[in-house]
Amino acid sequence: MEGESHTQIPHVLIFPLPFQGHINPMLKLAELLSLAGINVTFLNTPHSHRHLTLHSDVLSRFSRFPAFRFLTITDGLPPDHPRTFDYCADFITSFETVTKPILRDFLVSGHFGSDLTCAILDGFFKFLVDADDAEIKIPIFGFRLFSACSVWTYFCVHDLIQDGQLPIRGEEDMDRVLTNVPGMENVLRCRDLPSACRVTDTNDSVLQFNIIQTQRSSEFHSVIFNSFEDLEGPVLEKIRTLCPNLYAIGPLHALLKAKLPNETECLNNLWEVDRSCLKWLDNQPPGSVIYVSFGSITVMGREKFMEFWHGLVDSGRNFLWVIRPDMVRGKNGDVEIPAELEEGTRKRGYTVGWAPQEEVLAHEAVGGFLTHSGWNSTLESVVAGKPMICWSYISDQLVNSRFVSNVWKLGLDMKDVCDRGTVAKMVNELLVDRKEEFMRSAAEMANLAKRSVRPGGSSYADFDRLVQDITALSQ
Ligand code: UDX
Repeated sequence: MEGESHTQIPHVLIFPLPFQGHINPMLKLAELLSLAGINVTFLNTPHSHRHLTLHSDVLSRFSRFPAFRFLTITDGLPPDHPRTFDYCADFITSFETVTKPILRDFLVSGHFGSDLTCAILDGFFKFLVDADDAEIKIPIFGFRLFSACSVWTYFCVHDLIQDGQLPIRGEEDMDRVLTNVPGMENVLRCRDLPSACRVTDTNDSVLQFNIIQTQRSSEFHSVIFNSFEDLEGPVLEKIRTLCPNLYAIGPLHALLKAKLPNETECLNNLWEVDRSCLKWLDNQPPGSVIYVSFGSITVMGREKFMEFWHGLVDSGRNFLWVIRPDMVRGKNGDVEIPAELEEGTRKRGYTVGWAPQEEVLAHEAVGGFLTHSGWNSTLESVVAGKPMICWSYISDQLVNSRFVSNVWKLGLDMKDVCDRGTVAKMVNELLVDRKEEFMRSAAEMANLAKRSVRPGGSSYADFDRLVQDITALSQ
């Protein structure tokens, strides 16, 4: 009928890379978009989907959105293939050769439905679709799951090479301060650059891959960041010069919590959660526990593992430590554990294979977080107001830990050091010697984070803008 307006409900495809640190925030985004009335198709690899549905409440949680659905796409790897950082190269090759062509076919053939408005893809790997593929008709949004400061650093690496500031000239060059990274002059040392920069040849394939993938971010229709203006405003501004259509909508877990204040935490775990640690925490004095977790893909040799263990026991402080079953390389059974470690752990420690991390960080017994500086862990610690010791491991984490310690003043940077003396000393510095100072700055940042996701806050407004823009695309 003339004059009648048809309102089409937007339909968004969301596809994270199959890692816990990517699935978590993208599921939170999926829930937020669903709450805003947008239909969502969430694409998983069969491996992630199996683990997710086994160990989390996602199926029941999303069942309240009738149009929401999970679909799967192969990652091309056998089901029992390890999915830790050590096997990253296998995953990248397989995703490029197997998953990418299938995804393209799906997008071109209308597999996800003729009503599909746009796709929000994991933004690190623009290789999931080709920007100049004219047959893909829908807009592609990139969700950059790293901090803005690390993404901006990746953007600047090309210029650092042109300036002759890279490659890093050996171990003795690692503490050289980089004076001309725009927007972060004199902040980063060579050792704080993403780990891909630790090469002697700037033509290194992994470094070039990272540079190109980052530069191609500007080809996305829009870019989404799990960050907020009060934390990373100046750097977000720099990125906007290259990716003008940018939404900073984080911390996403806090935004979701603000929209659903009476609901329990959304559990997106790929591992079985051991909630017994919450009971153990209930019996510890306030602020007395250092929570230790290195995220979902960190792997370390037995030597480093033992240094951490000794350091935690030697610190004399209480500790709750997440030791994933696949976290330590090599066999454990044939190594003798010193009696004092067993004894110290019995007295003051508690270990689990996987913790309900957001709840743990919010617990009053936890006084600090020894973390690998994954971006989700960093944001979760920020929101919980807990200072950090950063033992960053790879990639973006090396930039994050520098910002935590030297820019945001939320803790200590322990990168590249792993000895028991340093662990014990830093745990005491965080929980005792400099406790007041760190707790004060952590509380201030937590307030800013929570303010950003409430009505009137920057992330709240950017999320509304994202919903409006997706809705406009569907009309
Ligand atoms: C990966 C990359 O390694 C990281 O550099 C990048 O910033 C994000 O993607 P991951 O290493 O797993 O992530 O770390 P992180 O980003 O911290 O994500 C881990 C997630 O697992 C967090 O949301 C955390 O709450 C959760 N987690 C971790 C648990 O729920 N329980 C645990 O015991 C440990």
